[in-house]
Amino acid sequence: MAQALMHMVHESSDQSLIIVDVTQSLIPRSQNVNNLGAPETTIEDPNHHLTSPPPKNDYRRFQPPTNDPNPTQPPRTTLILMSTIAIVSAGAMGSAIAKRLVHAGCTIYTNLDGRSPAAHQRALDAGMINVPLETLLSKSNWILSIVPPGEAFAFARRVVAVSNSVPLPLPRAFVDCNAVNPETVRRIGGLFRETHMGFIDAGIVGTPPREGWDPTFYACTESGSEDVLEEFAALSQYGLKISLLKGAGAGVGDASSLKLCESMMKKGSIGLFMTMMLTAHRSSPATADALMKELSISQPALMGRLIQTVPEGIPKAYRFVAEMEGLAEFVGGGEADIFKGFARVFERVAGSLEGDGVDVETLRSGVEKALELQGTSK
Ligand SMILES: NC(=O)c1ccc[n+]([C@@H]2O[C@H](COP(=O)([O-])OP(=O)(O)OC[C@H]3O[C@@H](n4cnc5c(N)ncnc54)[C@H](OP(=O)(O)O)[C@@H]3O)[C@@H](O)[C@H]2O)c1
Repeated sequence: MAQALMHMVHESSDQSLIIVDVTQSLIPRSQNVNNLGAPETTIEDPNHHLTSPPPKNDYRRFQPPTNDPNPTQPPRTTLILMSTIAIVSAGAMGSAIAKRLVHAGCTIYTNLDGRSPAAHQRALDAGMINVPLETLLSKSNWILSIVPPGEAFAFARRVVAVSNSVPLPLPRAFVDCNAVNPETVRRIGGLFRETHMGFIDAGIVGTPPREGWDPTFYACTESGSEDVLEEFAALSQYGLKISLLKGAGAGVGDASSLKLCESMMKKGSIGLFMTMMLTAHRSSPATADALMKELSISQPALMGRLIQTVPEGIPKAYRFVAEMEGLAEFVGGGEADIFKGFARVFERVAGSLEGDGVDVETLRSGVEKALELQGTSK
């Protein structure tokens, strides 16, 4: 409730500001807030990235609440650009989204503590700015969590812990964009109830953005916080494709549910292809070749999908393990075993990639054979 009030948004008369009013009746969050009596104006200026002026209505002014019933000092006012966004981390998806947003004139902060040299390089290439988590929280209007699903809860908990030591304003909302099950995303959302940040459950459907292609962010929030969802949808002006899940019964968990149901088909089919190819090869390499030949005649569309998705799935197999386990929990009942089985095959492929490479080689040579049969091998 306090959070919703704090973020009441109005268009200002000059149409260049979105003003966030904070009512005096709000319960201040911490000592930091109570002590913010000194007049101070902070304007984040990330224009070093801009090739064109920021869009209109791109600012929000935040006046932190104070306990003092007769303030002698004007309240601190902070302006944060709506287009200042944090993305953690700089993986395939996070860095591609960042690149798209930087290109549109946004400033993208990230935090690369403990990350690999590859993540640092992707962040650099995408134009992301690496800052400590505290700085990221105090400068960004949105936090998009785009991490391996198995890390989503721990990352959110870290953000909440750090937010307790960061003076207001905090980001407008934490947006969990990971393929986690609805139960997990509700637990993540619960962490933000006691903070001054809103929470959005988002599911990204599709591969990372590239020239001519955009994945869709399905997004929803808890009932009563629809305003934050509408503001999030405004990020579409920077090139994100956002589809809101609202209406009767909609709430946190629905976007993740939609994403997981879509994953059942998409990643489940990769798990099925891999299981099929490894099992045929276990009989003999000749069986695996004959199977590819049969499928190229009887199932050409499926073969096209196998050729595309199996090579893509090999480096992602490590990540699919947690996703399949999440799917098993989500589906429940006896059907859960289907996805537990896919988790095992992805675990096997990920292990092969890190280890002796035998299973990975089997899969790659199966795809080569399929390409050859299609007459598209180079
Ligand atoms: N890629 C897609 O096509 C796709 C599509 C839809 C949704 N998504 C979702 O997007 C999320 C990320 O996927 P991705 O494809 O970008 O994965 P990815 O390429 O494997 O990248 C994951 C990134 O997260 C970093 N990371 C690992 N552990 C972390 C932690 N504890 N805290 C912060 N960062 C951490 C990794 O850093 P290191 O390099 O140091 O390991 C890496 O940079 C997933 O939840 C996935 O479901 C992806």
